[in-house]
Amino acid sequence: MKAVTWQGKRQISVDEVPDPQIIDATDAIVRITSTAICGSDLHLYEVFGPFLDKGDILGHESMGIIEAVGDQVTRLKVGDRVVVPFTISCGECFMCRRGLQSQCETTQNRDQGTGAALYGYTKLYGQIPGGQAEYLRVPLADYNMVVVRDDLPDERYLFLSDILPTAWQGVKYADVPEGGTLAVMGLGPVGQFVSRIGRHLGYEVIAVDPVPERRRMAERHGVETWDLNDETVAALRKRTMGRGPDSVVDAVGLEAHGSPGGAFAQAAVGLLPDVIARKAMTTAGIDRLAALHASLDLVRRGGTVSLSGVYAGEADPMPMNSMFDKQVSLRMGQCNVKNWVDDLLPLVEDPADPLGVTDLVTHRVPLEQAPEMYETFQKKEDGCIKVVLKPRGEL
Ligand SMILES: NC(=O)c1ccc[n+]([C@@H]2O[C@H](COP(=O)([O-])OP(=O)(O)OC[C@H]3O[C@@H](n4cnc5c(N)ncnc54)[C@H](O)[C@@H]3O)[C@@H](O)[C@H]2O)c1
Ligand SMILES: [Zn+2]
Ligand SMILES: [Zn+2]
Repeated sequence: MKAVTWQGKRQISVDEVPDPQIIDATDAIVRITSTAICGSDLHLYEVFGPFLDKGDILGHESMGIIEAVGDQVTRLKVGDRVVVPFTISCGECFMCRRGLQSQCETTQNRDQGTGAALYGYTKLYGQIPGGQAEYLRVPLADYNMVVVRDDLPDERYLFLSDILPTAWQGVKYADVPEGGTLAVMGLGPVGQFVSRIGRHLGYEVIAVDPVPERRRMAERHGVETWDLNDETVAALRKRTMGRGPDSVVDAVGLEAHGSPGGAFAQAAVGLLPDVIARKAMTTAGIDRLAALHASLDLVRRGGTVSLSGVYAGEADPMPMNSMFDKQVSLRMGQCNVKNWVDDLLPLVEDPADPLGVTDLVTHRVPLEQAPEMYETFQKKEDGCIKVVLKPRGEL
């Protein structure tokens, strides 16, 4: 089959690779109909090279049709239309029973000291082949897959695989008081959904992003937007009665603009041999912290900062004095996708499309165009906000 593979920093190719096979009796094979590129894939493209091997298949936002099932798969059958959540979990362990599927004790990567396995996401998370491909092997298929109706287009459902539940969790963890104010840092696909969910739940939403077309998109969904500059935090504080918003979601993560120290550390680590770079990245502070520090600065006293954006440094400097003095609550983590799907399914199927899932994708292209689309998405060229790859060619 054809698959999108990582070949080196900013080097992606589409290669012919062996088809995935059923390995365990609880596996299924999905024929992929749509698979998106995520902001998290950009971290692999730019920063996390030391944790990838040439030829690793990327992608963790996928849906399609079941092609084959193992002997112990009982709930699913060949031909079912399914979405594949990016966190792989068992549904039965201590963590899964508590709605913490991204910490699943069955798929945890104990040798790396990390949480549940993820598709297409490095040695740290199980090195599971990803879904930017014609076919995907799904472990623990009965529990993991979300079966969906046949009559709505893929883009109604595709984002249940990751960014929609990620945004939902980001807002839930932000603990916004009823009718309160939520600030959102970053208007990539995750920030777009965080903002819309905030509006849907009745909050005032103010979002910040330096990219004009991303701000325009958010404005279409009732979100007040602000450009990013040195004055933004002070101006937003003033805008929120001098106090700051009740809650802030950081939907940017470790590659934020405006973090020269972190940018230098990431570039320097990128020049080291892989083994040494891995050590540096798992012990040092390598994150670009501008969005996180701005979020902590902006939130009102006693408010909550919720991180949807990914961070990875082990010794990043944090403003402990003001966090403590302001009595800030902080929540974060990889999304517990399965925990939120039941809340979201009726919203994506609602004909009124309350979260605007049909207004996000800017580029739909055949799988073969993945290399140029990674570049376009990273550079934010051509108005690119969200890319969907179509392995079967039908656009
Ligand atoms: N927690 C999870 O399970 C999970 C799941 C999916 C994605 N993510 C993470 O969420 C983050 C966002 O993903 P995305 O797909 O929206 O990516 P993206 O790269 O498209 O979006 C990031 C946005 O932040 C903006 N930005 C950069 N620096 C900023 C700053 N200092 N202040 C305000 N805005 C700034 C950029 O212009 C961009 O629009 C990434 O870190 C991604 O890895 C986490
Ligand atoms: Zn993702
Ligand atoms: Zn589990």
